[in-house]
Amino acid sequence: MRQHKLALCKEHYLEWVPEQTDRFIKKYNMFTRDEKILVAVSGGKDSLGLWDILVRLGYQADGLYLGLGIDGGIDYSHESQRLTEKFANEHNLKLHIVDIEKEYRQSIPVLSQMTHRGHGKPCAVCGLTKRHEMNRIARDLGYDVLATGHNLDDEAAVLFGNTLSWSGEYLLRQGPVLPAGDGLARKVKPLCRFYEREMTAYCLVRGIEYIYEECPFAEGSQSIYYKELLNQLETTRPGAKLTFYLRFLEARKSGELFVEKDMEQAHLHPCPNCGQPTSAPDLCSFCRMIEKVNSVPAS
Ligand code: AMP
Ligand code: FES
Ligand code: ZN
Repeated sequence: MRQHKLALCKEHYLEWVPEQTDRFIKKYNMFTRDEKILVAVSGGKDSLGLWDILVRLGYQADGLYLGLGIDGGIDYSHESQRLTEKFANEHNLKLHIVDIEKEYRQSIPVLSQMTHRGHGKPCAVCGLTKRHEMNRIARDLGYDVLATGHNLDDEAAVLFGNTLSWSGEYLLRQGPVLPAGDGLARKVKPLCRFYEREMTAYCLVRGIEYIYEECPFAEGSQSIYYKELLNQLETTRPGAKLTFYLRFLEARKSGELFVEKDMEQAHLHPCPNCGQPTSAPDLCSFCRMIEKVNSVPAS
């Protein structure tokens, strides 16, 4: 790990990763051992690795898998669900499975087609649905906190995008912890300081079987392009990605970055249907999408 000027053997690496994770959990006040954690697990290396680490550290962590109905020629959703269930069974863990098609009559790609959002790609509808469902389930099942597997590469790419466009409101909301609000569960990202390759190494060394393929719709996405740019930078300047992210967190905390105007929260009110906060005048975007889809007669 050039960025830390550190090299570890297999045995010590498997200790180092959970130790570091626990340090971040405490440093950013993510949760305590008394709280119930819902880990959003996609079947990928980050979220399966996260679940494994939290359980090894003695936290009360159950899993949530969302069936998105994405095939993409590689049976993406089936395979990721199979690997998630396999992990849960092998470790005797509780996994909630929610199938979007069963809940809302249509899979993500069909919802996307029917609502004409996202220029032919389902990623916008998928992101909206995942956020809404993770929050709904965490709240309904009484979890204290929702944990996702976002790693440093994910966070640095989002930060890069938001910085290029100086999106003050998004920058303010980006961080390891998003506190609970009216209708919103607390959200945490315990892996936000690990490089993607560090999580790959953890899963390989630990023998965790995960889905290697990315979502088939991710190809050509902006976030992948930003990740490639940041990797080029990292090659010549080891540690650049980590410094970019950590300096941002410091600057944000000290209030250096933003003027008061950005600090004002957008005017939010509870959606009359689901109760989650929204800035839309009536229903939230998710409920509006479902209403639109339900108004189309079933074929
Ligand atoms: P992504 O939005 O695909 O980059 O994934 C970011 C995080 O969201 C993952 O690390 C998981 O914690 C969570 N996630 C993504 N897809 C799913 C899914 N199908 N079910 C549950 N959690 C998911
Ligand atoms: Fe949602 Fe790819 S479109 S994971
Ligand atoms: Zn709603």
